[in-house]
Amino acid sequence: MIKILLLGSTGSIGTSTENCIRRYRDQFSLVGISVNRRIESALNQINEFSVSHISVGTDDAYNQFPRDQYSSVTLYKGDEGLLQMAEELDYDVLVNALVGSVGFAPTVAALKRGKKVALANKESLVVGGEVIARVMKEFGGTLLPIDSEHSAILQCLNGEESKTIESMTVTASGGPFRELPSDQFSKISVETALKHPTWAMGPKITIDSSTLMNKGFELIEAHHLFDISFDQLKVVVHPQSIIHSMVTFTDGAVMAQCGLPDMELPIQYALTYPKRLPITSPRLDLATLGSLTFFEPDYNRFPCLNLCIEAGRAGGTVPAVLNASNEIAVELFLNRKIAYVDIAKIVSEACELHTRQDALSLEQIISVDRETRSLVREKYGR
Ligand SMILES: NC(=O)c1ccc[n+]([C@@H]2O[C@H](COP(=O)([O-])OP(=O)(O)OC[C@H]3O[C@@H](n4cnc5c(N)ncnc54)[C@H](OP(=O)(O)O)[C@@H]3O)[C@@H](O)[C@H]2O)c1
Repeated sequence: MIKILLLGSTGSIGTSTENCIRRYRDQFSLVGISVNRRIESALNQINEFSVSHISVGTDDAYNQFPRDQYSSVTLYKGDEGLLQMAEELDYDVLVNALVGSVGFAPTVAALKRGKKVALANKESLVVGGEVIARVMKEFGGTLLPIDSEHSAILQCLNGEESKTIESMTVTASGGPFRELPSDQFSKISVETALKHPTWAMGPKITIDSSTLMNKGFELIEAHHLFDISFDQLKVVVHPQSIIHSMVTFTDGAVMAQCGLPDMELPIQYALTYPKRLPITSPRLDLATLGSLTFFEPDYNRFPCLNLCIEAGRAGGTVPAVLNASNEIAVELFLNRKIAYVDIAKIVSEACELHTRQDALSLEQIISVDRETRSLVREKYGR
């Protein structure tokens, strides 16, 4: 029985993870969950999976939790609660499905205990990839990607020697504005930006996908996960999202992992790696699909992609600034306080104003994250 701590249990990845647990109830159990504020959904999960520990993000959710009815459930609160669960509970795998840099500290805490972390929370690696690498060197721990692109690369690398890897190509759907002329970008509304063509995801990653910030984050994530240089990382736009990513080897062979878009496969693979368990989902039928298409990304219309590559190459504290400014800019856009095109401008400005430091510790990254958030909020959160 694999004991799972699922942080971010009511979100898009959280509920897909729930489906994987439901499919193999004899192999997986859920020991702890976290939600920000969706208490009703959390109570359903507690009832169905006999969950014994929960952390909630907000004071309201904490006060709303029916403690009398659930006296056997241990209740935690806030960022501290997430950390405490990762540090103290008895679990085998942390599934980190939190959104944003709040996921970084629990990832580090689990790795420090030598645990396996199935990571959807790419922000962990964006903000603190260098710190995470040091923690893993010192304490062990295993990091397995849930992102479909990185899961694809992991699957392509099975049985291969790292010295034979020439490059990795991360595919991108291109998002809803793939073909939108640049003079239309200033008119993009929250509603259109929230309509992703191929994946149903939480609001923050949906916006990040539309700006290609998400793809840039994935390059930083791949750099840390597979210890590969930015020169060896490529992006190709592939609107059908059938090829999830590819690896080119030094003999010219290209391995690609394909399938219909479905996050349950990479989630379940991370839980059972290196084994596979059956999933009876609809199968890929290439003849029915007919054709797959590929394009170069347009770096001019999607400046966030280059911002990520520059921040990733700079390393140190710069990616933490990139991420924090983006989190606040996306929040301001979703709250209709800034225009869509301001997201890239705000992130670019925050990175330019920042004086890079070497990434030394979790505490330092968290402090840079907080400082950037308050600077951006102060300036743009009118
Ligand atoms: N969705 C995808 O298909 C996909 C694919 C690849 C990677 N990812 C990555 O996976 C992560 C999660 O994405 P998502 O789309 O699943 O996000 P989401 O739908 O917005 O879900 C986020 C989850 O985290 C919980 N949460 C947020 N802040 C919290 C806090 N402070 N304390 C406790 N719980 C908190 C939310 O609770 P509430 O329900 O109460 O708000 C929710 O359960 C992101 O890093 C994303 O980039 C997602």
